[in-house]
Amino acid sequence: MYDYIKKILTARVYDVAIESPLEVMSRLSRRLNNRVLLKREDLQPVFSFKLRGAYNKMANLPRAALEKGVICASAGNHAQGVALSAQRLGAKATIVMPRTTPAIKIQAVRDRGGKIVLFGDNYDEAYQHARQLEAEKGLTFIHPYDDPDVIAGQGTIGMEILRQHPDHIEAIFIAVGGGGLIAGIAAFIKYLRPEIKIIGVEPDDAASMYQALKQDRRVVLDQVGIFADGVAVRQVGEETFRLARERVDEMIVVSTDEICAAIKDIFDDTRAIAEPAGALGAAGLKKYVERTGVTGANLIALNCGANINFDRLRHVAERAELGERREALLAVTIPEQPGSFRRFCQTIGKRSITEFNYRYADTRQAQVFAGIQLTEGDGEKNRIIETLREHSYPVLDLSDNEMAKLHIRYMVGGHAPGLRDELLYRFEFPERPGALLQFLTGMAHDWNISLFHYRNHGSDHGRVLVGIQVSTAERGQFDQFIHKLGYPYADETDNPAYRLFLDSRG
Ligand SMILES: Cc1ncc(COP(=O)(O)O)c(C=O)c1O
Repeated sequence: MYDYIKKILTARVYDVAIESPLEVMSRLSRRLNNRVLLKREDLQPVFSFKLRGAYNKMANLPRAALEKGVICASAGNHAQGVALSAQRLGAKATIVMPRTTPAIKIQAVRDRGGKIVLFGDNYDEAYQHARQLEAEKGLTFIHPYDDPDVIAGQGTIGMEILRQHPDHIEAIFIAVGGGGLIAGIAAFIKYLRPEIKIIGVEPDDAASMYQALKQDRRVVLDQVGIFADGVAVRQVGEETFRLARERVDEMIVVSTDEICAAIKDIFDDTRAIAEPAGALGAAGLKKYVERTGVTGANLIALNCGANINFDRLRHVAERAELGERREALLAVTIPEQPGSFRRFCQTIGKRSITEFNYRYADTRQAQVFAGIQLTEGDGEKNRIIETLREHSYPVLDLSDNEMAKLHIRYMVGGHAPGLRDELLYRFEFPERPGALLQFLTGMAHDWNISLFHYRNHGSDHGRVLVGIQVSTAERGQFDQFIHKLGYPYADETDNPAYRLFLDSRG
């Protein structure tokens, strides 16, 4: 134990790292009835804490080893930490990255002067190749977590936390990949303040430390989810496991949707975007508060990284409300007849509808894919389902159905066999609570709605695509009706995309 304290106190990190701020998250604190603080490791020069461990390890190497060169395997944050440290120390760095590494991360390493070798399709293959090059070329391998100097470098975060917050702390929530970060922080905190709980957080599809501690051995996971790519590790380190066994109080696992909700919480409080692994601490903290019911405590979450591709924010925004249990996704079967669509909306009541996908299937019934905003979580969702069933609508809850959330929601549609006289219109209406129901009530008429697509995109205007069956004889009457409706619209019946993908005439 003493060894680590000495190593942490004398660690060389501040040549490259900043002492990151510890900030109060006011909004989340109010919501959770606790004082929540966020350690901003996302503000480090490479946008993650990883340079602490990498630099400390490399600064302790003999000059000759630095001159010969260092090597590492990494798809992201460690690579950038090693490249920056090598640049500062005047060393040569070879970074082996899987061929699947996003271009933005390859570029970030290249910008720091690192030599990149692209090899294999995943981290394990890149790792094996790096170890082979290490032996062949006499390079020094910089491990991403399983090395006392790397662990000590990460441990300086624990030292900063105690300096920045000398008062009572109930718990610190830390993302776990290979375990270097939590091992270093736990080593320092448990030595000086053993009463502070050290809680690790992992995604439920990459829970290697959770499983290892549960089974008391370093299990190798068959597969790991890569949403939180910073912590996608199949097996935790040997030394990190030894330290975690002694000093970690608890592990919490969270879902992808809960991670997305935490990214939003961090954004709401700080206007900073965390990468998925970076938001794990906050996600675990929220789950801990929910489970224990603790109030009035000081709780610290680590935001350990911000290296996220901009494109991924689309998925994050898509899932954040679901992760907060503020949205329910339901498949509801309704009778295929004029007016049934509107009656279904009235049953849902004044709640905001976040998504509404429907396509005529046959003459008897239709399936609706509906997203409904919740203000009271799962209890409210269950009440909605009960009400719909009382009104004889068969309902399937899709809120936790990954396949439906990833694919089916985008696939509701297709050519409707046997459907006649369909016109396709696109509308815009001002977006506010109840706006969709109002729109539908305005549409209330004897014409049958055969297609409906709506998704709330958080903008000030709702956009819907509607298919309506109108016979040639009724066309004049329909044109008048649509004009009187008062919403901006466009006739899309001749749009070639409609013809290709939806039109029943194929
Ligand atoms: C952003 C982020 N968070 C957490 C971790 C996990 O750190 P460790 O492997 O030391 O557990 C990593 C590792 O690369 C990371 O990049």
